Amino acid sequence: MNKPLISSPIPLDDLHSSTLDAGNIVALPASVFSSDEFFQFEMNAVWRHEWFCVGHVGEVPNVGDYYTIQVGKDPLVVLHDRDDKIAVLANVCQHRGMILVEGRGNLRRLRCPLHAWTYDLGGKLIAAPGLSDGDAADQAAIAGICIPRIRTEIWEGFIFITFDETLAPVGERLGRLGEQLRAYNMGALRGADPLHLEEMAWNWKIFNDECYHCMYLHSSSWGDMYALNRGETLDEAVEFNDLDKGVISYNLCSTHRDAAPTHTKSILQPPMTGLDDRQRSQLSYVTVAPNLLIVAMPDKVKYFLWLPLEAQKSLYAVSWMYPETTLAREDFRENFEREIKDLRPVMDEDLYAWSSCQKGYNSGFAARGPLAPEEEVIKRLQTWLVRRYVAEEGRVLAARQVAE
Ligand code: FES
Ligand SMILES: [Fe+2]
Repeated sequence: MNKPLISSPIPLDDLHSSTLDAGNIVALPASVFSSDEFFQFEMNAVWRHEWFCVGHVGEVPNVGDYYTIQVGKDPLVVLHDRDDKIAVLANVCQHRGMILVEGRGNLRRLRCPLHAWTYDLGGKLIAAPGLSDGDAADQAAIAGICIPRIRTEIWEGFIFITFDETLAPVGERLGRLGEQLRAYNMGALRGADPLHLEEMAWNWKIFNDECYHCMYLHSSSWGDMYALNRGETLDEAVEFNDLDKGVISYNLCSTHRDAAPTHTKSILQPPMTGLDDRQRSQLSYVTVAPNLLIVAMPDKVKYFLWLPLEAQKSLYAVSWMYPETTLAREDFRENFEREIKDLRPVMDEDLYAWSSCQKGYNSGFAARGPLAPEEEVIKRLQTWLVRRYVAEEGRVLAARQVAE
């Protein structure tokens, strides 16, 4: 993959005040969320040098199952290959650039719609009309052509990719978190519905989760279903936190077992087996930077996933994952739909707020307000991000010095 050398258009010294290393921590500047130039720099700083999640193995259970995603300008396809591995390939024909597949489905091979170049599920070109059946020179011209395969690893059922071949394995980064969440058995859970990535008109960082807003934006939606008291229900000192590894979390703690934000104030599906009393009375929100939010609940694990497209455009999906035994219950769908209905106002409020923040960030009046004590999550995420920006600036300077 080609990676242009780009310096930050914002002096990085200006961002220090948004990190935990500063005294009074303020929000990141609006241009970090709105500028096309900064987005190009950030694509290198974060998305070309980190592991990030692109879904869960349950999305592609059978050989040939696939779904498509996009990261920045790069269309990719996630598929279950013939070696029973998850492969993430560039979704770009190596002949003249046509996108190979759209949406999701099942394939025996990848066949380009334009001139029928055909690749096996590992990405190797196996037929090219007029060339693979041509003379020796034609055959030599296509020998060794393969669709680029992106480095992929599975962590607790989640599919992670990186464009950086030098990074340590994702399991090394997230191993401790895997242990801590072991009771939820996330690798064996399955989504109630296929993952559906939707295009949103705001910067990917606006999805960064915190619960300062829950008590206000969601006071009469979520707040009517799940008690939210400042300082009592919100615990940001949870042991999952590991800033260096990009693991940033908080718990919402309830006084009763199996509490959940539903019309009954409790879970609507059976609790998962193997959870202890504490896990049965809390919701754990774990962000794995840059783009995965895991919400571990007594009856399920939800995950929220987002990918960058442009400075002010992103893809977003939510998946509700359950044990197979829950999914097989006769009353599953009815309860599931009821819970979605209960949460609809909360989701609508979030969508409204995210779109509104992007509008504000585009205004000349956007400011860098001080962060409240209940925004510890945002302080940590900002710190993680600024460290990535500083590292990239260092790489750019080093590369320029070598070139001189
Ligand atoms: S562009 Fe794909 S076969 Fe020609
Ligand atoms: Fe929210």
